Order: sequence, then structure tokens, then C-alpha cells
Amino acid sequence: MSQQSGIGVAFTGSGSAVPDVALDNQALSQVVETSDEWIASRTGIRQRYLSGADGSLRAIATQAAQSALDMAGVSAAEVDLIILATSTSDDLFGTASQIQSDLGAVKAVAFDLTAACSGFVFGMVTAAQFIRTGTYRNVLLIGADILSRWVDWSDRRTCVLFGDGAGAVVMQACGEGDFLLGFEIRSDGSQNDCLTLAYQAEPRELVNGVTVGQGTYQPIAMNGQEVYRFAVKRVPEVIEKALHRASLTTDKVDWLLLHQANQRILDAVAQRLGIPNEKVISNMANYGNTSAASIPLALDEAVRQGRIKDGDVIAASGFGAGLTWGAAIFQWGK
Ligand code: ACO
Repeated sequence: MSQQSGIGVAFTGSGSAVPDVALDNQALSQVVETSDEWIASRTGIRQRYLSGADGSLRAIATQAAQSALDMAGVSAAEVDLIILATSTSDDLFGTASQIQSDLGAVKAVAFDLTAACSGFVFGMVTAAQFIRTGTYRNVLLIGADILSRWVDWSDRRTCVLFGDGAGAVVMQACGEGDFLLGFEIRSDGSQNDCLTLAYQAEPRELVNGVTVGQGTYQPIAMNGQEVYRFAVKRVPEVIEKALHRASLTTDKVDWLLLHQANQRILDAVAQRLGIPNEKVISNMANYGNTSAASIPLALDEAVRQGRIKDGDVIAASGFGAGLTWGAAIFQWGK
């Protein structure tokens, strides 16, 4: 992964934000026929935060981004690029520009990137390309989703899984090393129908013979067992590939930081890689699956708790709809 410019990537700040209102499994059992026992034992999830009708992606993403900038000691005016990884934009034309405006990041170019729960890892790799080529020095990468907007709240197989949230990191150009040590990102559209949030058109005839489709997005539909099988097979593979690119072995990994989909997936992946439980970061009990936000949310929590320290090697992996998956091996800190 050497870069011709001699410019590397450093990870210098993190931040996160969730909506104010939490819904625990007990309360959710008033919405669908389920129980705390079923949800906790099958997924590890105990509660999730939900954005209210007035809540916006823009608000939680901006809050997470500002605290990441504060930790990095970077002012909004110094940011060159903002990437917002999300599948639930407030505006289909993009939410990143609104965040740019709210932060006062006047010189930054901003765009949304959609790759479902892999979005944060895909965004990290995208950001690194701009830094390594010398194009940009200060990048704000945000992962944020409000999946509660698109969950079928009458489907107990899916609605118990998801929560809303935002997380962010600051990635900066570095002349003294490259701390994105290795990565691998993948897609397999042949399995797209395993997990969808698809637009469904209603035909509307404008004039005789000319019809447009005007509909809306259908709620999240998931084949849970297929997604589970995909994750426990592909995630260890892609982490091993990224470690190989980083010339590292699993024993050099300080923290395994997976997309927080299901505790059983985390346990199975850790076991396949031979990584002990104490190195596995897990916070889904409190947040559920927050899609593109889950990795930076868990990262930020562990950094602020003092668990992740400067120099620690983190193996992060996102996986989800697309299907998409990927891994990034990076070292935390300035
Ligand atoms: N409460 C009570 N019972 C339930 C619930 C619930 N919330 N949901 C399902 N059940 C029942 C089912 O109806 C079924 O009953 P039946 O046997 O009488 O038909 C039984 O529990 C078992 O259902 P399964 O679907 O087989 O349960 P499984 O053990 O596979 O667990 C789960 C389901 C948790 C969804 C699991 O498949 C999973 O975690 N898959 C991965 C999902 C995932 O991570 N998706 C996100 C990817 S990230 C992204 O991009 C969004």
C-alpha cells in the first residue's frame, strides 16, 4: 500500500451522536410480538436510539462531525473534504452539503456515499485516495443513518435490529508514516435481493403513451439467515486479505471493530480469526445496528473510554446490503 507522494494517512479525531430517545426491548414488545429474551439472546441488542419525527440526519451527523474536529484540533475552515456515508439521506440530492454549511467548512467539497453498512469502510478507503495523492489534507468522514424511517415496524424479524446514530473521524495527511495499513473492499450484486430498501414505482401517465414512475421506497426487507451466512464467511476472509496487504498477522491486531449487526456474528468472526473476546469491541447492546454509523460510533466510544489508545492497531470491517463488505486495518492516533 505504499503511496507515491510520500504522504500517508493519520486518524486524529473521532466523534459520535445519537438521538435523545431510547427504546428498550421491553417497550418494543408493545409494538411487535417479541421479547427482551428473544432479541437479546439472538442479537445481543437491548435498546436502540430513535430519531423522532422532527429529527434529521443532518443534525446528528453535524454533532458527531464537530466533536471529531474538536478532538483532532482541526477547525471547520481547514477541512478540505467531507464524505457522508449514509443510506438514509434527508435529501436524495445529498445531505453532506448541508453539514458543510452547518459546520462552516467553507472550503470543503462535500458529497454523500452510499454502501449501506459498509459505507464507513468504503468512505475511509475513498478518503485515503484523496489524501495519498496529495489532493486534500484534512478529511472529515461521517457515517450516519436513520434507518427507523425505513424499517417495517410491523415486521418483528427486522424492526428489532436497527437503531439511529452518527459517528465521524478526521483523517489527515501525514508526512511521517501511513497509518492506513491495508484494506480490501468488495461487492456482490448477485446477492442484492438478500437485503433491500428498494424504490417501487407507481405508473403515472403524463400524456397518452408517456408514463413516468412516481412511487416511494419500500421498507427494509431482509433474508436474515442468508445475510448471517454471508457475513460469517466473507468478513473473516476480507480481514485476512487486508491484514495480508498490511503485512500483519491476526496476533498484531489490538482491536477487532466490526459493523455492529449481531453479537453472534461478532463472536463467530472473532472465533474464525482466533481473536480473543477481550479484543472485540461491542456496543450494539445499547445502540442496535446503526448501519454506516456503527463502526465510528463504537470507535469513538472506545477512544473516549480510553480503551483504544494512540498506536493501537484496529481491524475494522463493514458488511451489508449490496451486498458489500470490506476491511481496513489502521493505527489510531496522531
Ligand atoms: N421476536 C420473537 N420471535 C422472532 C423474532 C422476534 N423479534 N424474529 C423472528 N422470530 C421468530 C421467527 O418467526 C421464527 O419462528 P418460527 O420458527 O416459528 O418461524 C424464529 O423466531 C426463528 O427465526 P429466524 O429468522 O430463523 O431467526 P434467526 O436465528 O435466523 O435470527 C436474525 C434472526 C437475528 C435476524 C439473524 O438471522 C441475523 O442476525 N441475521 C443477520 C442480519 C444482519 O446482520 N443484517 C444486517 C446487515 S447490515 C445492513 O446492511 C443493514
